[in-house]
Order: sequence, then C-alpha cells, then structure tokens
Amino acid sequence: MEPLSLNVLREKYLSFFESKGHLRLESFPLVPQNDNSLLLINAGMAPLKPYFKGERVPPRKRVTTCQKCVRTLDIDNVGKTSRHGTFFEMLGNFSFGDYFKEEAIPWAWEFLTKVLEIPESRLYPSVYVEDDEALEIWVKTGVPRERITKLGKDDNFWEIGAGPCGPCSEIYFDRGPEFGCGKPDCGPGCDCDRFLEFWNLVFTQYDRQEDGSMPELPHRNLDTGMGLERMAAIMQHKTANYDGDLMQHLIKLGEEISGKTYDADDYSGASRSLRIIADHSRGVYFMISDGILPGNEGREYVLRRLLRRAVFHGRLLGIEGAFLTKFIDEVNAQMGEAYPELLKNVALVKGIVASEEERFSTTLDNGRVYLDE
Ligand code: GLY
Repeated sequence: MEPLSLNVLREKYLSFFESKGHLRLESFPLVPQNDNSLLLINAGMAPLKPYFKGERVPPRKRVTTCQKCVRTLDIDNVGKTSRHGTFFEMLGNFSFGDYFKEEAIPWAWEFLTKVLEIPESRLYPSVYVEDDEALEIWVKTGVPRERITKLGKDDNFWEIGAGPCGPCSEIYFDRGPEFGCGKPDCGPGCDCDRFLEFWNLVFTQYDRQEDGSMPELPHRNLDTGMGLERMAAIMQHKTANYDGDLMQHLIKLGEEISGKTYDADDYSGASRSLRIIADHSRGVYFMISDGILPGNEGREYVLRRLLRRAVFHGRLLGIEGAFLTKFIDEVNAQMGEAYPELLKNVALVKGIVASEEERFSTTLDNGRVYLDE
C-alpha cells in the first residue's frame, strides 16, 4: 500500500466512482438550502436529502462528491484526541433508487484492495445485527465470514436528525495488535485504538420523522461516507487524522508562528492548541467563504465560537498580534484547487477574519488588564 497524499486520494476516489457511472458533483455549500433541521452541512448526504426522498429529480441516479462538512457536537474534544475535528471533508458515492447493497459492497472492496492496494487481511467489515443480506454479500465478495462483525443499532444504524436513514455496514482498518487492548473480544466496535472505522455504507431505506416514526422511503438508496483526513492518515501510515499531510502543513505553520513544537503523541498543552488552531482556522475560512458572518445566533455563533477559540489558543501559545489570516494562505495552497470557490473572495474573507480577530483580541487584552489588576 503506497502512501498517498490527501489530494491524490480524493481524486482517486471520485474518478473510481465516475468509472462506475457516477456523476461527480462539486461540494455543496456549508449552508443548508431549504433544510431547517440543520445549522450546517454535517455529512455528504445532507444536501442530497430531496433526491433520497424522491422530492426532486437528481441530475443522475448515481452521484459522487467530496463534501465540506462542519460538526461541532464534540468541539471540546478537539485537540485532545487523535480524531476529533470540526471541519472535515467527506467522500461519498450515492444512489437514488438505483443500485443498492449488491453493487455497493463489491465496489467498496474493489476500491480498497485494487485501487488503494490495502492488504485484505487489514480490512474488517461490520454489518447491522439483523442484516444477513449484507453479511452474505460480503462473504460472496471474498471476505471470510469470521472477519465480519455483527453490531447493534448504536454502531450500525445511521441517522443524523430527521430525514433519510437506514442500517449500515462499516469498514474498519486493523492497525495491528500493538495498538489493541488485548482483551479476548477486542474487534471492530471495541473502544481501544486498534480497529479504526473509516467508511460507512448506509442502506438508506427509511425516513425518520420529527415524531420518531420511520416510514419507508419511496425507493431504496445508497449513501456512503468516508472521512478523507482519516483515510489519508491511514494511507500515510499515520495514527491520527492530524498527522496526515494536509493537517501537518497547518500545524507546521502554527509551529512557525508560535515557536512551539508539535508532538504527535501529546494531547495536551501546545500540541493540543496547535491542533485546535489548525482545525478551527480552516473551518472559519470555509464558513466565511460560503457567506456566513460572525454573529450571536445559530451558524453565525458557531463561526464566532470557532474563530475565538482559535485566537484564544493562539494566546495560550504565546502568539502576540493577529495571525489567523496566515492560515488562509496555507489553506489556499493546499485546498484551492479542489475548492476553487475559496479563491474568489480571499481579500474580503481576510478582512472579515482580521476585524473579528482584532475585536476579540481587544476583549482578551481588557480581560487580562482586569485580571492583572
Ligand atoms: N452518511 C454516512 C456517514 O456520514 O457516515
């Protein structure tokens, strides 16, 4: 398995699914359109809900995307773990009433073992406990039955708020026994660091309602989600999302500006702050580029909170003066080709970031004077 950069991996995924008849679409904006159930797009499938529900006709029944996403539910864990982040890219292939499990499972296997050349012995699928159909398809695809784990609703039923949902089959990468807890029942779904879940194949058949009921959708769909940072880290033989090539560029910039050193094994202090700045600064940039402004409510508050946390952690690292706009240039260098919308309003976005950073820095300075007194 050759190490691949994140940008190469993204391209390989999208072109593989193009070769299987999918239409490649640009990422949708982070601001949901006609969907009051979400503040921000938080999964590759979220902007595609009307196609799953049969409310709109998709441009093609097979689509593939790399979707920009923001999830802030676990914001307090960012920097303290190897995998939590707020902004991420999610690769996906989708079927709207077209193919289903019989095609999705062998294609996932082909992509992983033939295109990425991951050794079969490192891959472990899980299936929903009642989904014998998916289990048999995995066996027919060539995975030994004993390497397939049945898991319950918490792990293998995918839903995110109201809307299309269904049982899922997740694929895990085995990092090796040296990362495991050593318990006899250690396997996919175990809390230890050995088995990393990296791709979720969702068999989207139901439509979760606000009242909790779950009627069948008009047709069976397929939704998959693969976190690009996590997959890139796996391909680069790294243990954490933050240690893949793209995030490392941002962390190195943080090191240069602050004079502090990053330690991939340290989840506190300066290393934690460097991760937080790398993650939040990127999220802030994408959000403002998509037209969100800092404010006190809803998604505007999410943006303000990310920006302020980044500035605060800059202070903890001892950075004096404004620094956030430097991250915009680095994000452009790494991601501008994949997301050309970033490059359209750079000066405007930098102005918004700089003025919010200045306002918050003044607040921090006033607070420091007050505390010193
Ligand atoms: N929609 C599948 C996932 O986000 O995992």
